[in-house]
Amino acid sequence: MTKFRTQIGIIGAGPAGLTLAHLLHLEGIESFVLERHTREYVETRVRAGVLEQGTVDILSGSGVGERLKREGLEHQGVELRFDGRGHRIDFQQLVGKSITVYAQQEVVKDLIAARLGYNAPIYFEAEATRIEGFESSPKIHFRWSDEEHEIACDYIAGCDGFHGISRLAVPDAQLQIHERHYPFAWLGILVQVAPASHELIYTYHKRGFSLLSMRSPELSRLYLQCAPEEDLEKWSDDRIWEELRARVATRDGFVLKDGPILQKGITPMRSFVASPMRFGKLFLLGDAAHIVPPTGAKGLNLAVADVRVLTRGLVEFYKRGSEESLKQYTERCLGRVWKCQRFSWWMTSMLHRFPQEDSFSYHIHIAELDYVTSSRAASTTLAENYVGLPFDTPGLF
Ligand code: FAD
Ligand code: PHB
Repeated sequence: MTKFRTQIGIIGAGPAGLTLAHLLHLEGIESFVLERHTREYVETRVRAGVLEQGTVDILSGSGVGERLKREGLEHQGVELRFDGRGHRIDFQQLVGKSITVYAQQEVVKDLIAARLGYNAPIYFEAEATRIEGFESSPKIHFRWSDEEHEIACDYIAGCDGFHGISRLAVPDAQLQIHERHYPFAWLGILVQVAPASHELIYTYHKRGFSLLSMRSPELSRLYLQCAPEEDLEKWSDDRIWEELRARVATRDGFVLKDGPILQKGITPMRSFVASPMRFGKLFLLGDAAHIVPPTGAKGLNLAVADVRVLTRGLVEFYKRGSEESLKQYTERCLGRVWKCQRFSWWMTSMLHRFPQEDSFSYHIHIAELDYVTSSRAASTTLAENYVGLPFDTPGLF
């Protein structure tokens, strides 16, 4: 068994853990990253795709935005499509900002390359099995290369996603959970075909929600609402295309081009918040603390926002000896988390079909979408949230 010592022990090499490790490195704070999967696995896992301006600024400002700038697709708006017609929400005109489509696994690749470039510790296939002493002297136990090891650290950053061990290590009595389950999921496909449009299209239809997104000028990412415990085996490629075509059809004959499906998966829909997000010397970040349904494209962005708050707190602690910011960690993160929860829940409710919806509900959905796309005030609300609310404190890019 090897005993390591570091300042910050980070569990998880997803967007939260890797961004945190990178920002801390730039501030001269040491960390040790543990990831239970292989490097190849985390660099190819297909997940989120939309980066808020604030996330792009943090990545670019910290020197890992070169490829993002080159390959990321900047979008100035989105389309909401319903009743056979498309309506554009123009972010630039309404709030003067834009979003960037750049896949999560590309962000992960850039951050791993940066970390390996400066030779800072990152262990793959290293599973954290237990954490202890987070009230006083934190330790992470992990298994690597068939052996048990431990890391002693000043603080633990639990960046291990929804199914990780960090949140589970906190006694139930100290944790409040707030959650919502939705009676549907998303079936997502990655397709070798040029995107249907230069911007994202969110569609509300009697047959259910669908989303036309993209990853590059040659790759499309498409989703359709399905049952929560959907069996992928029942979705042949033909059935997927038929369903998508029906949902995105317009009165003026929009044609959805198909292509080879490279990957298929089901994404469950859940809203979840654990509070507080700090327990003594353990901090929870990203999906370890909160989950949003993907309709608002907020999951990855929220993880990066937590990282920003924790980095500021740790810098203040190591450089000025003050724990004041660290004490405010939960409050600062949750302010943003709840606003993003509200937005993600609202987008989800507005754009999906719920079981037993009658004609009244249908017309309420259409009226809401009509209002959102025709009122400047309502469109501005959507745009302001979608591009990312401003950070409540200045600094850090
Ligand atoms: P994660 O990315 O989950 O990273 C956590 C890491 O910790 C993982 O690499 C995991 O292997 C590792 N880990 C876990 N336990 C241990 C352990 N014991 N020891 C060591 N390592 C451990 N968001 C969107 O905005 N749009 C989308 O389309 C979208 N699609 C999604 C699809 C799926 C299937 C999932 C699960 C999420 C999706 N999300 C989406 C959400 C978004 O991807 C997440 O919000 C984002 O990944 C959060 O980053 P994170 O670093 O907090 O967690
Ligand atoms: C994606 O491209 O994967 C994506 C885009 C927007 C969302 C969710 C997912 O709201």
